[in-house]
Amino acid sequence: MSDGLSLRRAAIAVAVGSAGAAAAAGALLEGALQLAAIALVLALAAAAGLRLAAAIARDLSVQGDAGADDAELAFRETAELRERLAATASAMRKSGDDLRRQLDDAIYANQAKSDFLANMSHELRTPLNAIIGFAEFLQIRVGRSLPERERAYLDDIVQAAFHLLSIIQEILDFSRLEAGKLVVQDEPARLADIVDAAVRLVRKQAEAKRIALNERLDPEVHLSCDTTKIRQICANLVTNAIKFTPSGGRIDVWCGLDEEGRPSLRVTDSGVGMTASEVDLALKPFMRVATNPFVAKEGGIGLGLPISRALAELHGGELVIASEPRHGTRVTVTLPAARRTGT
Ligand SMILES: Nc1ncnc2c1ncn2[C@@H]1O[C@H](COP(=O)(O)OP(=O)(O)OP(=O)(O)O)[C@@H](O)[C@H]1O
Ligand SMILES: [Mg+2]
Repeated sequence: MSDGLSLRRAAIAVAVGSAGAAAAAGALLEGALQLAAIALVLALAAAAGLRLAAAIARDLSVQGDAGADDAELAFRETAELRERLAATASAMRKSGDDLRRQLDDAIYANQAKSDFLANMSHELRTPLNAIIGFAEFLQIRVGRSLPERERAYLDDIVQAAFHLLSIIQEILDFSRLEAGKLVVQDEPARLADIVDAAVRLVRKQAEAKRIALNERLDPEVHLSCDTTKIRQICANLVTNAIKFTPSGGRIDVWCGLDEEGRPSLRVTDSGVGMTASEVDLALKPFMRVATNPFVAKEGGIGLGLPISRALAELHGGELVIASEPRHGTRVTVTLPAARRTGT
């Protein structure tokens, strides 16, 4: 019996033990399951984390690659830009050198031209004055005893020589003006006297062309100026008015004070006139207006207006042209009010 009992006990013990073991095993299993679940969750989380990390890493690496590409591109572009800038700077330096050389050449050529004009006109003027002097001497001494035809030849010699002299004088004045060698020699004067003297010089030309030449001169304007140069301006302007006005036309010469009290002179003609761009051209040295019907038959080299303007400016004044094709031209020379004197 004791064996039975022992066996039962043993059986009970086994059963209890088994149950305990089972319970323990169950508990263990439950714990293990929980642990496994946790482990699974952790593993899943780790896997997700890894995936996320991998994705982030991938992303970062893509971004890193793109950033590196961008940086390389920017670097290359900067280098190219630097090269282009260097090339441009060197081209600019070269064209700057070229320009400086060309400017030097132009200054040298201009100086050579001015020297040539000045020397040539000086050399021509001396023999020409001799021709004029001797021709006038012959006119006086033997002119009256010569047959009419030969007297006319003598007159032609004198007239042509004077014409040549005026051209040479213009060239000489122009080259002196360009070289800055022409200076104003001020003296007290009366504007009306200067203008009248200039008009007298050319009145015959107006009469020959049957052009009415009227003067309206204020006798009260006294001033300090270079008389010869102002007379030269006035003679140039009236000569132009005569040359470029058809027969039967009209020229008005006025001098006085303008509305601002400045000594002024004005030559108005009823001639062929000019457009605004032709006026600009006319004021440039050696330029004549090709559409002007009188230019071909009237003498001249295109220096009268630029010289006149330069002479007015030498006095601190100005020369202004208002003109309209077929209606005429008005040239006004204005001197500074400060040039007025009491008497
Ligand atoms: N009063 C005017 N009416 C119309 N055109 C004019 C007048 N004055 C000047 N011009 C134009 O302007 C040009 C330049 O005038 P400018 O006096 O300088 O030269 P020019 O009279 O031709 O020659 P130069 O005066 O040297 O003998 C003339 O050739 C002419 O075409
Ligand atoms: Mg002229």
